[in-house]
Amino acid sequence: MIKLNNNIEDLTKYLQIKDWLKENESIVAVEKPGEGNMNFTLRILTETRSFIVKQSRDYVEKYPQVAAPAERVLREAEFYEVIESVPSLKAMMPTLIGLDKDNSVMVMEDLGNGSDFTYLYQLGKEFLEEDLFAVIDFAACLHTSITTETQTHIITNTKMRKLNHEHIFNYPYAVNNGINLDDILPGLQKEANRLKADNVLKAEIKKLGDLYLEDGDILLHGDYFPGSWLATVGGLKIIDPEFCFFGKAEFEIGVMLAHLKMANQSSIIIEKAVKRYKSLADLDDVLCYKFMAIEILRRIIGLAQLPLEIRLEKRIKLLNESREILVS
Ligand SMILES: Nc1ncnc2c1ncn2[C@@H]1O[C@H](COP(=O)(O)OP(=O)(O)OP(=O)(O)O)[C@@H](O)[C@H]1O
Ligand SMILES: [Mg+2]
Repeated sequence: MIKLNNNIEDLTKYLQIKDWLKENESIVAVEKPGEGNMNFTLRILTETRSFIVKQSRDYVEKYPQVAAPAERVLREAEFYEVIESVPSLKAMMPTLIGLDKDNSVMVMEDLGNGSDFTYLYQLGKEFLEEDLFAVIDFAACLHTSITTETQTHIITNTKMRKLNHEHIFNYPYAVNNGINLDDILPGLQKEANRLKADNVLKAEIKKLGDLYLEDGDILLHGDYFPGSWLATVGGLKIIDPEFCFFGKAEFEIGVMLAHLKMANQSSIIIEKAVKRYKSLADLDDVLCYKFMAIEILRRIIGLAQLPLEIRLEKRIKLLNESREILVS
């Protein structure tokens, strides 16, 4: 397996062999397109254009000691291929330019130097209605247009789903999981310990975890949170569907709502989001709020921490509300 690096000479050789550089085209610069943890991602600039190269490896780029499914970028590429047939989805995602299956390398359109929506976790930032509706409409369109009825090939993405399952449903509740939450925010560990000892809660979480692992009827992006939404000059775009699979809409929308809650968005925004989605697609509210609760819990007490700014009191309030949603 060829391991890409950011050396221009090596990249030129590789891209020429793959026919991804045109004749007389040369690389003038290579840059990191934005923050990412999982994969090796580069922006390649030539005299006339730029494009993005993404390679997945059998480990997490930022934490090489952590194993990850090596071929995950191929699942991401399958997603881009599938949505090509739906113009309103295609318009909101980068176009797939090339794929090297042997080396798990994908080349895609450069959406430009935009920023993702991670800034929403900063206190006082409000998600504009226009952006909220763009995100909801994309999800509703995806969920209603790519289904087991329209597709012959179903993406199961089993390995990535197992990895995610571990981090969402198991790891946060394992007693000695090695995370010291007081390092993140003093006082948080005590709250996590309380949840870890709650067998009623854990039984419910196990049920939802089993549901997440079940194959469903509609294609999900699979990682639908502000880090996957990009603000570009061409409007809001959606990237990074490496966790995609055929599952339940309630998981996708629940995860999204959880992030709006942790980004301290008002209940008016949350209600607007649900109402908008339900005007476009089916949703089981009760199940959706359960997945929302699960995502809140795992992001506050699990390993995949977010740059949250909400204070301890607010985090405890969200943990308690989430527990209520799950056990009631
Ligand atoms: N097609 C694109 N056009 C422009 N910028 C992009 C594109 N793809 C990725 N980026 C930028 O590179 C960053 C990392 O990309 P991406 O999220 O796909 O990588 P990742 O390693 O899967 O990240 P994560 O660890 O968050 O899953 C993005 O946040 C974005 O800023
Ligand atoms: Mg990713």
